[in-house]
Amino acid sequence: MAESLQVVVRKGLEGVIVDSTSVSKVMPDINSLTYRGYTVQELCEHCRFEEVAYLLWNKELPSKAQLQEFEKSERALRAISPELAQAMRSFPKKAHPMDLIRTGISFLGMENPDSYDNDPKDHLNHALNMFAKAPTIVAAGFRLRQGLEPIAPKADLGYSENFFHMCFGEVPSKDVIRAFDVSLILYAEHGFNASTFSARVIASTLTDMYGAVTGGIAALKGPLHGGANEQVMLVLKEIGEPSKARAWLDKALAEKRKIMGFGHRVYKSGDSRVPTMNQCLEKLSVAKGDMKWLQIAKELEAAMLEKKNIHPNVDFPTGPAYYLMGFPIDLYTPLFVMSRITGWTAHFIEQNLSNRIIRPLSEYTGEKVRQVLPIDRRA
Ligand code: COA
Repeated sequence: MAESLQVVVRKGLEGVIVDSTSVSKVMPDINSLTYRGYTVQELCEHCRFEEVAYLLWNKELPSKAQLQEFEKSERALRAISPELAQAMRSFPKKAHPMDLIRTGISFLGMENPDSYDNDPKDHLNHALNMFAKAPTIVAAGFRLRQGLEPIAPKADLGYSENFFHMCFGEVPSKDVIRAFDVSLILYAEHGFNASTFSARVIASTLTDMYGAVTGGIAALKGPLHGGANEQVMLVLKEIGEPSKARAWLDKALAEKRKIMGFGHRVYKSGDSRVPTMNQCLEKLSVAKGDMKWLQIAKELEAAMLEKKNIHPNVDFPTGPAYYLMGFPIDLYTPLFVMSRITGWTAHFIEQNLSNRIIRPLSEYTGEKVRQVLPIDRRA
């Protein structure tokens, strides 16, 4: 009895610092987030997503020449193998696109047995391989599900442009591309969140990078994590009209529902990524001539602040932004994957550079030690 009184269980590891990192810093007190020392707001203003990927892996922003070289390598790796393309044709049509990208990344691991020895000199190559091929896998799955043929990547298009080309066969306006790029920058990295920590736990066993990213994707799928961006759009559709937002919220709170896209373990007075994404959502709504989702979102946000004093997180504006870009709702979290691959792999590399296997303890609350009775003496 005395022993169990001394045990402090940190449920959800809240407040526990498990390691150090130089990849990103979440600063809830000043509502800021930096990647390698640069604020995400400035990165969104001045950079394309490719530059941010380079920064996360190489710790510095690329020069023009370095970016050119980096993009050349990325573009050369975009095509998936005929074997993976063939396997994707046999995936169940009803499978969630998150399961599809999880399996696709796992398949890439099987295609790269040189990753099994986890040699640090190959880490960046494997990270780039996943980064380059993830959009091709997501887009192919998106098309196959509709009975359409996948579209091959184009090497003369940027990362975001190429993704739209592979999904829809055309590249949208600069505003849409910019909004998409910004969402990818904002989603790229965020400290020891659930999926990144999962990837680091996996990395700490010294297994290969493909396995760690596969695990990260599994964690990201959950509605309390990346899956929230899909749930946000479902909620906005459920509400249907701006005038119905308040009544909807009252009912949902009375039923003790968690309101998706609100709240955060670290940010308690607002998510640093929301204002930047909100600006994109506003521009998109105007460009598409469809203000309804923004208006419902604004009503819901105001009501949630009033009733619970809980702020929206980044999934709140990205949900409707992806909707306006024309993506089906269940593709939103795979889009998040395309971005977060950069953060997961940067953490994988960091974990490997200073590794100790992650192995916490638990408080046992089960039966006391007891005797096994032979089967004929059991009740
Ligand atoms: N809707 C309703 N109530 C919420 C809420 C939400 N979205 N987020 C937090 N709360 C409530 C909690 O239920 C808790 O209430 P209680 O004290 O009566 O139990 C209180 O606010 C404090 O919660 P907190 O400790 O801050 O949350 P957490 O750290 O355990 O969980 C999340 C953080 C993100 C998992 C949680 O806010 C959530 O489930 N949000 C919705 C899913 C989402 O948007 N996820 C994406 C995160 S980027």
